[in-house]
Amino acid sequence: MCGIVGYVGRQQAAPILLSGLRRLEYRGYDSAGLALVGKGGLKLYKAEGKLAQLEKILPKRLPGVVGVGHTRWATHGEPTDANAHPHCDPEGRVAIVHNGIVENSVELRARLQADGHVFASETDSEVIAHLIASSSKATLEQRVREALLVIEGTYGIAVVDWEQPGQLVVARNGSPVILGVGDKEMFVASDVSALVRYTRQVVHLDDREMAVLAPDGFRTLTLDDQPTDKQPLTVSLSSESFDKGGFEHFLHKEIHEQPDACSRTLRGRLDRQFNTAKLGGLELAPRDLLDIRRIRILGCGSAYYAGLVGAHMIETLTRVPCDAEPAAEFRYRNPVIEKDVLYIVVSQSGETFDTLAAVQEVQRKGGRVLGVVNAVGSTIARQCDGGIYLHAGPEVSVASTKTFTCSVLAFALFALHLGRVRDISPGVGRRLIDALLALPDQMREILAGEAAIAEIAREFLAPRSNAFYIGRASSYALALEGAQKLKEISYIHAEAYPASELKHGPLALVSPETPTVMVVPHDDLLDKSLSTLEEIRTRRGPIIAITHPGADDRRVADRADAVIEVPRSESVLDPLLLNLPLQLLAYHAAVALGRDIDQPRNLAKSVTVE
Ligand code: AGP
Repeated sequence: MCGIVGYVGRQQAAPILLSGLRRLEYRGYDSAGLALVGKGGLKLYKAEGKLAQLEKILPKRLPGVVGVGHTRWATHGEPTDANAHPHCDPEGRVAIVHNGIVENSVELRARLQADGHVFASETDSEVIAHLIASSSKATLEQRVREALLVIEGTYGIAVVDWEQPGQLVVARNGSPVILGVGDKEMFVASDVSALVRYTRQVVHLDDREMAVLAPDGFRTLTLDDQPTDKQPLTVSLSSESFDKGGFEHFLHKEIHEQPDACSRTLRGRLDRQFNTAKLGGLELAPRDLLDIRRIRILGCGSAYYAGLVGAHMIETLTRVPCDAEPAAEFRYRNPVIEKDVLYIVVSQSGETFDTLAAVQEVQRKGGRVLGVVNAVGSTIARQCDGGIYLHAGPEVSVASTKTFTCSVLAFALFALHLGRVRDISPGVGRRLIDALLALPDQMREILAGEAAIAEIAREFLAPRSNAFYIGRASSYALALEGAQKLKEISYIHAEAYPASELKHGPLALVSPETPTVMVVPHDDLLDKSLSTLEEIRTRRGPIIAITHPGADDRRVADRADAVIEVPRSESVLDPLLLNLPLQLLAYHAAVALGRDIDQPRNLAKSVTVE
């Protein structure tokens, strides 16, 4: 989603802003721009399309030690040069970059137009520049504050003013703004990835907080003008985490990082003495865990699907009823919040607007929310009452892979922890720990078989326009995730169904032209799944089965056109392994079709708007 960068210091701002915008490319965008404060005033450069388009229109010399930059993912107004940020007031005095949505922009625009303001774009954001420039207050800080007090909606903004050239003013309400503290220079970005090349000292702004940045430091204060005196924190991410490391695509690298990422999620969290998991961040004592009557998991997209798999694990191991629901649906249906229900939200970025709003809805009604989050210090992580960090490392590709896996793994740890407080025996706990520790090597084994999976993707998926993904119980959740991956990065239409539902409708579309990917582990439901395989075979639908090695049971292999075998784990942990071939199938189908794998069309990495 949209990205913000800003700089004030002694170096030339343009190369720093451009390198920051490059780092933010992965979030998805359709236009980009820069504003620099130079001796002659404010200079603006904006272009529809990718950063390469912007670079084409930039002059060789770009003087200015203060500036802001933006990558825009269109919401209000098409992706055109005029709608690209930064936006200015009519006199070209103030330039702003904005993430979020100004909900009362129509009324504000009408009011400003009645006062003679002429607008250059169709965006909601432009009103902010006009409001700031038309304020009669003396300082930029005061004028920004005055403007923000009449704005309804969400924002992360950075503002420069050529009449106060040594300053950058930023503010946040619902869209992330992070300050980077350098040596006689300050940076700002909407995502820490754009800062780590220059500094590891960062300050996360909170909602309704603003900051005034100058080369010699910063001040943070609330919108009501109360100092907040934030101190910088040190982030551990390195700049290399955002490189492709020899892979052609971030997605491919991230698929291959899964064994190590899982080891990091597990590190220090397994307790051999009591055969349980240690989860220090939960902020829940065993007595609190005994009081839980039900668990509800919330998230969006793949995070929701990870929650569905997690719900199955938790319910199976703990016998506490558990289900998952899309966060946006939950928050809009006026949910009943009960004291003995535990809510868990899942979010890789920790910035997804709908998920954050669901957390706030639960808390507002007195409920307790835990977060399963990858991005340390993110808004959702800070908003939750406790939680589990994934430690998966930065995920750059828009489509989630390693963070899906690590989220499911975090649920497995939680299920073990809760299960050992309640129902499961030390013996079962010990078996689960052994199985968890074996997962990274089992994942390496699956990844070593990539060539054969790539061949299947090229033969069965890449040439087709449609595919079905099916499974039962937690394998149905994997089918949803597998279909999502294929859709997102290859643009092949894929639909997921519970295997049992196929004969209630979708079977009408099964034909030699429509392959079915079936997740079919050798579990208690195998006999049922075999009947479904027969139904598809009878209609001559090609079948790709992701299954377990059946040394003396060839029933799946004999019915499928292509078979991908994964090692067995404890049955409840099998989804962690069965999912990897689904990722590789989607990746290789997308490669065969020449897609823009890391930045699929229309999508953004972090969806910070409703
Ligand atoms: C998955 O491949 C997508 N990138 C998307 O569905 C994503 O999982 C969803 O937008 C939620 O993002 P979050 O985990 O950052 O909250």
